[in-house]
Amino acid sequence: MGERPAAGGGGHRLTRRGLLSGGALAAAATVTGGAVVTSGAEASRGATAANGGAPEVVPFHGPHQAGVATPPQAHAVFVAFDLRKGVGREALARMMRLLTDDARRLTQGRPALADTEPELAELPARLSVTFGFGPGLFDAAGVAEHRPESVAALPAFTIDRLRREWSGGDLLAQICADDPLTVTHALRMIVKDARAFARVRWTQRGFRRAAHSQPGGTTQRNVMGQLDGTVNPVPGTPDFDRAVWIEEGRMSGGTTLVLRRIRAEMETWDAADTTAKEFTVGRRLADGAPLTGGREHDEPDFGKLTPVGFPVISEYAHIRRARVPDPGLRMLRRVYNYDEGVGADGTADCGLLFAAYQADIARQFIPVQRRLAEADLLNEWTTPIGSAVFAVPPGCGPDGWIGQTLLG
Ligand code: HEM
Repeated sequence: MGERPAAGGGGHRLTRRGLLSGGALAAAATVTGGAVVTSGAEASRGATAANGGAPEVVPFHGPHQAGVATPPQAHAVFVAFDLRKGVGREALARMMRLLTDDARRLTQGRPALADTEPELAELPARLSVTFGFGPGLFDAAGVAEHRPESVAALPAFTIDRLRREWSGGDLLAQICADDPLTVTHALRMIVKDARAFARVRWTQRGFRRAAHSQPGGTTQRNVMGQLDGTVNPVPGTPDFDRAVWIEEGRMSGGTTLVLRRIRAEMETWDAADTTAKEFTVGRRLADGAPLTGGREHDEPDFGKLTPVGFPVISEYAHIRRARVPDPGLRMLRRVYNYDEGVGADGTADCGLLFAAYQADIARQFIPVQRRLAEADLLNEWTTPIGSAVFAVPPGCGPDGWIGQTLLG
């Protein structure tokens, strides 16, 4: 890879938006003279009234990669790659420099180098690009000793009906933004620049409620109609840090991702009544409150009995089986819905892209998934059809690249 031109270079015209980002302002002063915009205009680009002043640009640099603690954007695509034969550490380092550069530019509203549609880069819409390394990448790079131990094939669960087309992968890019066209463009650029090193294995697209359609902090609903994400580590708290970030070694500041594609059996779910649906999860559909009463974020009372002596929240209810008492050992669920359309017979092909981040898959994800596989009423209506695990390396600074602590 050759030296990269300054922001806005590479033969593309300098855009107003491009000029505003990063170190491009200095270049702008010389190139455009009077066209340099004021810091007031910059501020107005960074925040909009529509979203209560939250920034539309997600910072790229930092100790952690963006796209994990970032409040979930409305659209996501997960793309996994298989490395081409013979791609080793040096080539991987080259690839990650290239992909980091793409992500760095695109997330800040600047075209990628040799961007074929630079105009599409102008609306970052909270774009984040997060990279993950599958077990195979550590082997290919000859750095297996740096692989977090639990970033390995998951045990087989009895409920699994996994398909190769949705499983595995050496390299992952998780691309999220509030605008679907932004996601598509970033995907295109990443795939293009990865092409010499890796082949696309699968892409999985997901969505949540449209940006700004609900007040910030509202728990999303999934395709099954449930409020999904109530009990989750809260970014910025010590529990979140303990639950999500790896603290030591080359992966320090990183995390791990388990991505499960879980089909929702909507035909039979639709046939269940509200009482059955609520009993299955242990929460009310209307407001997500536990069946033992109160409001969405109130603690469920797992000891409470019905007048005839049965637990109000069933022994097999999803939230009882999934409960982890220590908040510092919970996983972060950053879930997206998927919808691949409707078959000729009217059957929906939809479900969840269940993305769980945790410091340690063996301590956090696996025990919960085991309990759920053993006995969870929800299993009647959900089927895992894809599964993949990745180490999510730490973030980087302006001169660094993602994966540098492992491959550099
Ligand atoms: C299609 C599949 C799934 C659906 C529809 C689903 C839905 C839900 C719902 C509605 C809740 C209650 C609200 C909340 O706290 O978010 C919940 C909680 C939870 N789910 Fe799932 N879930 C699914 C799969 C999974 C899987 C595969 C795991 C982990 C292996 C998991 C782990 C959890 C955890 C840890 C909680 C919080 C439990 C608590 O402490 O209250 N879920 N899920």
